[in-house]
Amino acid sequence: MGQQKIIIALDGHSSCGKSTYAKLIAAELGYSYIDSGAMYRAVTLAAMDAGLFDETSAPPVEKIEALLDHIDLELKHNPEKQRTEIFLSGRMVEDLIRRMEVSGHVSYIAAISAVRRKMVEYQRWLGREKGVVMDGRDIGTVVFPDAALKIFLTASLEVRTGRRYKELIEKGMAADFSEVQKNLEKRDHIDSNRDDSPLKKADDAILLDNSEMTLEQQMIWFKDLYQRIISGADDKD
Ligand code: DC
Repeated sequence: MGQQKIIIALDGHSSCGKSTYAKLIAAELGYSYIDSGAMYRAVTLAAMDAGLFDETSAPPVEKIEALLDHIDLELKHNPEKQRTEIFLSGRMVEDLIRRMEVSGHVSYIAAISAVRRKMVEYQRWLGREKGVVMDGRDIGTVVFPDAALKIFLTASLEVRTGRRYKELIEKGMAADFSEVQKNLEKRDHIDSNRDDSPLKKADDAILLDNSEMTLEQQMIWFKDLYQRIISGADDKD
């Protein structure tokens, strides 16, 4: 599947398999995969490391804005592992940012406009040559509104909780099913209701509910869609 390079925007709810799907699509097309959520998670980790979160309250926005000036965030391709990894001040934090504590705070950080501005700028730079699959919440609506192919992925809350729980357990992390479910519900609520770039389906995004679909079925669906888009995508990004 060669031809001209486009941007593929993959948005959707938390834990509906966006990153797994995006990675497979990127591998299929020889594109790079960019996990925009990892950036918001890394900023959250930086705020936690700086001691800005305590048990009871979230830090004031000004403190996060001040921290932003000192954050050194970089996405780098690891050819050995064939994946893109995220670095915070030179330290690879790919696993640390997936911890439940980070998941618990990330929606607060992602709702801050100064954070979003900085991340969106980096995301657009990463997509400047196209040939990328980027997943997130606002990729089709804000980051790349002209993307040639936009998918909005979702699945039932129960299916999503099960997937996230399994992922944490497989990574050897402590997890409680109802805690995971509560975190997902809370994040979706905050992500969908914030003022700046809320999670919503772009008008021209194609909805896919994968609750009952295998990855193989999702790839068949994707290849068909891609062929249709690419044959008529000359005048778009
Ligand atoms: O995809 P994820 O669960 O790793 O994303 C972590 C959080 O970051 C999620 O709760 C919402 C936020 N996010 C966002 O606001 N915009 C994006 N483009 C990607 C993620």
